[in-house]
Amino acid sequence: MALLEVDDLRTSFHTRNGVVRAVDGVSFCIDRGETLGIVGESGSGKSVTCLSLLGLVPQPPGRVEGTGAVLEGIDLLRCPREVLRGIRGRRIAMIFQDPMTSLNPYMTIEEQLMEPLLIHEKIDRAAAARMALQALQEVGVPEAEQRIRSYPHQFSGGMRQRVMIAMALIGKPDLLIADEPTTALDVTVQAQILDLIAQQQRQRGVAVIFISHDLSVVAGFCDRVMVMYAGRVVETADTRAVFREPKHPYTRALQRSRPAMQAKGAELYVIPGLPPDLSRPVPGCAFAPRCEFAVADCSRTEMQLQDVGAGQASACLRVQRGELTLQ
Ligand SMILES: Nc1ncnc2c1ncn2[C@@H]1O[C@H](COP(=O)(O)OP(=O)(O)O)[C@@H](O)[C@H]1O
Ligand SMILES: [Mg+2]
Repeated sequence: MALLEVDDLRTSFHTRNGVVRAVDGVSFCIDRGETLGIVGESGSGKSVTCLSLLGLVPQPPGRVEGTGAVLEGIDLLRCPREVLRGIRGRRIAMIFQDPMTSLNPYMTIEEQLMEPLLIHEKIDRAAAARMALQALQEVGVPEAEQRIRSYPHQFSGGMRQRVMIAMALIGKPDLLIADEPTTALDVTVQAQILDLIAQQQRQRGVAVIFISHDLSVVAGFCDRVMVMYAGRVVETADTRAVFREPKHPYTRALQRSRPAMQAKGAELYVIPGLPPDLSRPVPGCAFAPRCEFAVADCSRTEMQLQDVGAGQASACLRVQRGELTLQ
């Protein structure tokens, strides 16, 4: 049985300018200990997908619907708010791009690490303090004994992200959702944080949903990748397959635009055009207007994710018809 099974998730925002279909029929599952990457340009619905699962989309203006999002028998879309609150942090933990959004500026790191332990575990303050220190040491914060008494603003961006990881893992979650956790950091620190998450993931066997706009970052980290465009899934595959033979022109475009692929001095490849306005219905394939392989049929035929062999699924009509081979 999968740890989490999401079926036809739909999240929309009802605004004065219309209904924004931010997540439009997303389905996926993740097993215990697995790493799933969600990749796509900014605005493709990656964050809203995860926030919807945790009940963190403001309603209104948001509306979260779907067949289900089942975490080992509990439907996250329909369970009572108290149940969901219990799941957040305990069974599913989340780390964000900007740790300051989740850290309390007025509490020391120690107090923040101890808080969930004192609330949820039957242990005394001394035991909680020992566990908090150990958690901080495990994520590689130097001189943790002294620094645990500091406040968040006394830490650098990279160190704050380490604290966030410690906080996320201290409740021993089954699933960690990391939403662009390294995007705001410089390249060296980025690599250190990725290593740390990977190491913690191996040690604890926690499942990870790793979100990034950068396919190369996801590739180094995840077993499986789900590519999102305009609120929909356009491709799913094992990470290696996505690189060897992408099955959607959008995946190929993401691959070509990843920074690691750019030769020094070469012009940066940018996917031409812009993602569609999600408040208007998109006929056919949402990527067609930007796609170099698009034909007239692409804008006329409803986009549907289909198995295209070798464990890969694609929403590209031309790939499905066998007209197009990408590499
Ligand atoms: N509170 C909100 N109200 C209206 N639209 C929103 C709200 N939150 C997100 N959106 C829209 O949902 C879409 C998906 O956003 P998001 O999931 O944050 O993208 P990503 O994480 O892939 O960059 C975007 O078009 C965004 O503008
Ligand atoms: Mg996001």
